[in-house]
Amino acid sequence: MLEEKWWERSVVYQIYPRSFCDSNGDGVGDINGIRSKLWYLKKLGVDVIWLSPIYPSPNADNGYDISDYRGVSPEYGTMEDMKRFIQECEDSDISIMMDLVVNHTSDEHPWFVEAKSSLNSPYRDYYIWRKGKAGQVPNDLQSDFGGSAWEYSEETGEYYLHFYHKKQPDLNWENENMRAEIWKMMNHWIDMEIKGFRMDVIDVIGKDPDKKIKENGPKLHAYLQEMNRETFGGKDMMTVGECWGADTKIGRAYSDPERKELDMIFQFEQMQADQIPGKQKWDLRPLDLVYLKHTFAKWQKELEGKGWNSLFWNSHDLPRIVSRWGNDKEYRVESAKMLATALHGMKGTPYIYQGEEIGMTNYPFSGIEDLVDVETLNAYQERKAQGFPEEEIMRSLCAKARDNARTPMQWDDSPEGGFTKGSPWYRVNPNYKEINAKRALEDKGSVFYHYQKLIALRKEEPLLVHGTFELLCPEDRHVFAYVREWKCKKWLIICNFYEGPTEFSYPGKGRTILSNYEQGEEVLLEHIQLRPYEAVICEVM
Ligand code: GLC
Ligand code: CA
Repeated sequence: MLEEKWWERSVVYQIYPRSFCDSNGDGVGDINGIRSKLWYLKKLGVDVIWLSPIYPSPNADNGYDISDYRGVSPEYGTMEDMKRFIQECEDSDISIMMDLVVNHTSDEHPWFVEAKSSLNSPYRDYYIWRKGKAGQVPNDLQSDFGGSAWEYSEETGEYYLHFYHKKQPDLNWENENMRAEIWKMMNHWIDMEIKGFRMDVIDVIGKDPDKKIKENGPKLHAYLQEMNRETFGGKDMMTVGECWGADTKIGRAYSDPERKELDMIFQFEQMQADQIPGKQKWDLRPLDLVYLKHTFAKWQKELEGKGWNSLFWNSHDLPRIVSRWGNDKEYRVESAKMLATALHGMKGTPYIYQGEEIGMTNYPFSGIEDLVDVETLNAYQERKAQGFPEEEIMRSLCAKARDNARTPMQWDDSPEGGFTKGSPWYRVNPNYKEINAKRALEDKGSVFYHYQKLIALRKEEPLLVHGTFELLCPEDRHVFAYVREWKCKKWLIICNFYEGPTEFSYPGKGRTILSNYEQGEEVLLEHIQLRPYEAVICEVM
């Protein structure tokens, strides 16, 4: 008998609180704003909310720099609001997965304030300090946000490590007391009845800075096993680890249930299908569909029965998928539905990022002054210094900047897209009059209802949850097609990734289950003419 875990059949919805819904008119989204939209998430049918950080933070990286792990930022509300939110989610059968950001704290966290004050502070060793080399940084480790990963600290004359912003000092996971504090903090949230943790850049906690090892360090898995034992192990929660640099073997190490680490991983290999191999995300190439298909297929196959993967196109760190690999102009609705189908037809736990379900697009940035994210601004400076032409830099930033995902959620066609009654912390996409949740809910043919159907299908059909995966026509440069099979039942998922019509063929007939165009009940699979961005799920007869 197969023991099914609840999160294998779940669909997750990611909320970026700052940009979701503002309840009090200060221009910043908040917890009460989220509470006011629970009905909407219920209608969509999602089971889990991944809540991006709501903790107190100086916002050098919008909340991913935490100064108090147990509190709620006054910008987002009070602890009472949070408790009400947790209760209401429970009443609506929605689980909350908290963002756990424990590779680093804010430099304004009391631990760091203490630690930097003196070499003898009991908190000194909670962070990673090194002496300089001949007045220079200890080594050439780089921050992911640009520049050296080492920052000089006046007070004690040593450098501390930060893989991200200099206001995000890295914690020293070698320190047992520090780890014990993290376990206590996690248990505190578990006691408050949250149902899971999404673990921010968890793949770098096992670093060895002297050997210049960042990801997948030697003790990483030992730490995760300890975490599992000390906190959520045996508690039927959902845990997902963000890993930017994992291969399938590493993916299994995290998520093979027998190893008692995490339930699933959130890895990005497929998201590199439009960047020049070995280069940065800003180094663009057109989508390589064959790469994309092979990467998905590899993860589908190699985790089969031995681990679990997340399925996603979007997050607060990625540009909007309909602008990226769809067509956000004449085929916005068709291509958004096609992309949803391609993803939700696979095995794994699907994630939807706020606004994806209504086909929200990238922002039409006109210059660097429109952008605010720390990673974006650093990349701009770095590329300028390297001599890239302004136009080329802006092309990269418009395509990939995280700012694209962080514009406010578009609720209706009232001013500021109904996100706030005041003036929003960040610009609303000018297309809100056309693209908004209210309009999507009024239109049976909207992207929203397509997502709703895909979510419902996953609940009804064990095949989508457990079925095997077989890639078809692996070298075809237009169509992504695969077969899912489970207990004598066979489903075919066919997606045309481009606007040019194309053909596809498979033996026999199919019964249509879901499509983004008008479709007969029966499809002759031997000669299917696929329309622009057409997607079909059918059962093979
Ligand atoms: C993760 C987060 C990202 C953040 C970084 C540092 O990648 O998703 O938003 O900037 O970690 O915390
Ligand atoms: Ca607010």
